[in-house]
Amino acid sequence: MKPHHQFVGGTSDAHPERCDRCDVDFSEHWKPIAIDLFCGKGGWTNALLEKGFTVYGFDIEPQPEYKGTFVQCDILTLTADDLRTYGAIFATCSSPCEQFSVHGMKHFHPNPPFPAMGIKLFNHARALLEELGIPYVMENVRPAKNFVGRETNHCGPFYLWGPGVPAIFPPCAYKIQKGLMTKWIDSKGKTRTQGPQGRAGRLPGEGTVAASRERTAQAAMIPLSIARAVADVAERYIP
Ligand SMILES: C[S@@+](CC[C@H](N)C(=O)[O-])C[C@H]1O[C@@H](n2cnc3c(N)ncnc32)[C@H](O)[C@@H]1O
Repeated sequence: MKPHHQFVGGTSDAHPERCDRCDVDFSEHWKPIAIDLFCGKGGWTNALLEKGFTVYGFDIEPQPEYKGTFVQCDILTLTADDLRTYGAIFATCSSPCEQFSVHGMKHFHPNPPFPAMGIKLFNHARALLEELGIPYVMENVRPAKNFVGRETNHCGPFYLWGPGVPAIFPPCAYKIQKGLMTKWIDSKGKTRTQGPQGRAGRLPGEGTVAASRERTAQAAMIPLSIARAVADVAERYIP
């Protein structure tokens, strides 16, 4: 889906007054706008919403739980001009990490394939954000640095690139593990699994492809404590 609003007027791109395609007047209701590329379930978005941002999330898969304004599209088809029409002042971006992750598991994957698509998605998104000229944070896994360049900072296993990356995170954020599920036994003696963000248990249809996709999406979701540290930075850019 292509962006709709074409902002005109206002004191800057970040302060649009009206859309020249549908004449919606934004001047009375203006809220800061952010974009979340590869938004998934919206880990970054949730913290930006808390700060009062309007957030547009872009993902190739439908995201029924996403709480911002969802745009289903292949990010590889987007240009910086497409994104500019949203009038965002900050961006977050978590491109897929699977192809990079296996490069950090040499015991299990002694000869991992070259992560061509992982690099393509990361570099395309970074080029879009650089051309847009707004502060951004991109997130991926540690082995990605061998293919896309050194990170700006990292918080535990969350590797971060870009001018919006915080210098420090709250102590609780450093304790979070990425995507690891721990097993536990519940009060009825059942084995359960729990992700690093405390999301409980057995999913409906456990063992099916859909349940395994859901697990992957849950594990990929950015934890709130890390997202909030980034949203604190984003807030500083509100004019
Ligand atoms: C690491 S997850 C994002 C996690 C997200 N930040 C969160 O907090 O839930 C990567 C996402 O990229 C999406 N994706 C993969 N290829 C894509 C593409 N070409 N265009 C748009 N989204 C894509 C996947 O559907 C997945 O939701």
